[in-house]
Amino acid sequence: RPRGFDPSIDVSGLVDMDGGYLDRAIFTDQRLYEQEQARVFATSWLFLGHVEQLQRPGDFFTTYMGEDPVIVTKDKSGRIRAFLNSCRHRGARVLRADYGQTRAFTCTYHGWSYDLEGRLISVPNEAAYPEGGWDRDQWGLLEVAQLDTVLGLIFATWNPQAPTLDEQLGDMKYYMEAFLDRDSEGTTIVGGITKWILKGNWKLAAEQFGTDWYHVNMSHASALMVLSPTGRGPKKEIAETPGRQYSDERGNGTGFPTHPKSRFDAQPVHEYYDYAALAGRLGQARVQGPMTTGHATVFPNFSYLPVNGSIRVWHPKGPDEIEIWAWTVLDKSMPEEVREAQRLYNLRTFGPSGIFEQDDGENWSEIQAISRGWQTNRVPLNYQMGIGSEREDGVYPGSTSTLYSDSAGRRFYRRWAELMNTPAWHETEQS
Ligand code: FES
Repeated sequence: RPRGFDPSIDVSGLVDMDGGYLDRAIFTDQRLYEQEQARVFATSWLFLGHVEQLQRPGDFFTTYMGEDPVIVTKDKSGRIRAFLNSCRHRGARVLRADYGQTRAFTCTYHGWSYDLEGRLISVPNEAAYPEGGWDRDQWGLLEVAQLDTVLGLIFATWNPQAPTLDEQLGDMKYYMEAFLDRDSEGTTIVGGITKWILKGNWKLAAEQFGTDWYHVNMSHASALMVLSPTGRGPKKEIAETPGRQYSDERGNGTGFPTHPKSRFDAQPVHEYYDYAALAGRLGQARVQGPMTTGHATVFPNFSYLPVNGSIRVWHPKGPDEIEIWAWTVLDKSMPEEVREAQRLYNLRTFGPSGIFEQDDGENWSEIQAISRGWQTNRVPLNYQMGIGSEREDGVYPGSTSTLYSDSAGRRFYRRWAELMNTPAWHETEQS
């Protein structure tokens, strides 16, 4: 069992999403953080990478599922597989490289070696292991229970009882297609992965990307001014954009404007797109809504900005720290110069020193920094915006609310609390 795991922990008193109250202990408490690893990250579908990161058998990259390091590779038959990146001998990290090409995974500590299917295939001085009591087949790399791809993205889970990835996404896939299915050729990665560390709890970032439009005109007022073609000043109204916010009981959420003018003309891709043709492919509602300047979170820690082509995973590194990994993902058919212009645009806006990213990061880090105070912890946080505004709107699938709403946030934390309070597959398997 993971360190600190305590099945008796009950988070019901910390998350009241009927009333719209949240206790900020869920961002700071070490015991809750450890529980989260066992009951949220060990049970959910988690984002691993883009299929273009693996071209040939033997290509690999390394990443994390929660705090667990994993190797993602393409085996000899071309199947994508993911293994715990920890040697079965003494637990060393088998692969230390971020990515590469190999015929076998050889641990640099004592030289145990595993094939692309995860089998232990070579053990130096194997004769020294007890005759008859040694079974090499028992000591292969631990493999994820399920792995699947959707729209070019690779997800996996340790949970053999998890619903399929399609079921986990449900209607969310309709919204993801507005970003990842604009081109019949699919998408590709432009440039590498940008990685940086931020002080703050991973849920602050995941929640905001799923639900929070309320901050945009306030937090990003200066950035919006810089990018506006007219250089207009901050808007009088904080919440002025018409739009919808989707949420579901699996914790996924996305918010997007629904006005044709909400296409952000400063984006290099704006000149490239034939919006009439895209409407033929995706439908007018999607082109005017979810493919514009929205943002989204696939529960628990994968988020994206559809029009920017920015995807990111919020890797938890303790209750107080996030390691952010961000990719630029764009249509395969897009000319290289447009892709490159968009990659640079992404770095300027949502890279580690991007003018929007810094606004967001500062908010999250500030919330985290003051969450240690005693009085700070006595007062709940407010998630009441838009309570009761959720409905089937007849245009967008699933349940949507007004754009300026905490609906997806409430469902994110409901799902989080449900998982935190439910024995996970590994507990019921043990009992
Ligand atoms: Fe890997 Fe010993 S820890 S071979």
